[in-house]
Amino acid sequence: MLLELDYVGLIYQTPEAEKEAVRDVSFGIEEGEFVSLVGPSGCGKSTLLYLIAGLERPTSGEVRLHGKPITKPTPAIGYMPQQDQLFPWRTIRSNVNLGLEIQKKSPACYDRAEELMKKYGVLDVASMTPDQLSGGMRQRCALIRTLVTDPEFLLLDESFSALDYQTRIAVSIDTRSIIKREHKTALLVTHDISESLMLSDRIIVMTKSPGRIHAIHDLSALKDIPPEQRMEQAEYQLLLKEIWKELDIHG
Ligand SMILES: Nc1ncnc2c1ncn2[C@@H]1O[C@H](COP(=O)(O)OP(=O)(O)OP(=O)(O)O)[C@@H](O)[C@H]1O
Ligand SMILES: [Mg+2]
Repeated sequence: MLLELDYVGLIYQTPEAEKEAVRDVSFGIEEGEFVSLVGPSGCGKSTLLYLIAGLERPTSGEVRLHGKPITKPTPAIGYMPQQDQLFPWRTIRSNVNLGLEIQKKSPACYDRAEELMKKYGVLDVASMTPDQLSGGMRQRCALIRTLVTDPEFLLLDESFSALDYQTRIAVSIDTRSIIKREHKTALLVTHDISESLMLSDRIIVMTKSPGRIHAIHDLSALKDIPPEQRMEQAEYQLLLKEIWKELDIHG
């Protein structure tokens, strides 16, 4: 198992109060899987990503990568926040290379960055600044920036929510295909059940706060069907109804 969460709980301590964000969360993710995490607002989805990224420590339980507890951020885990967070004053190339600068990487890594930009059609816009690009293209650049440091595992927090519906579908499918081609493993947080059904190998449904696991759906019946054709499948419609109900009852 690449990633394991074992009865993970987190209680945030603030000066005013304690807030139990997640409770007894257990699941595992295998290498190469694309898993989605859905649940009502405030149920602790981002909190789970912080815990996996090593940005928060669990109050109880353990998060493990390759069997070893995660205690601090590691380059093996790439985190893509909700906004693309490209720096407006930097060109696309220097945004893409940012992680390499921070990690003081060798010139070979910069070659890899150029290769990735070429492979995924970003080279043409490399000397532009982010404001000259469409939302979808910016998202692709942000993904490539996350990929250049070669993480094994990617965390995506509502990465597409700022985009309009049509673009969101196109960009999320694009992102999934890049992640699959690069043989990465990913955990995507999303509000959008259809998005999770189109992109995922498995879907984890959380209860309302404090977030616990409500259900885990295996999408093996849709496994070999490309995202854009999944919607027509009976299995897709069934799961859509089921997850909708789960979120409705527990939201
Ligand atoms: N640093 C913090 N200190 C105290 N409470 C926090 C902190 N971060 C989050 N919370 C609380 O923990 C709960 C879970 O928050 P979290 O952001 O993980 O939810 P979420 O599922 O990502 O929500 P959304 O779908 O709205 O993004 C919320 O009640 C939130 O207010
Ligand atoms: Mg969140």
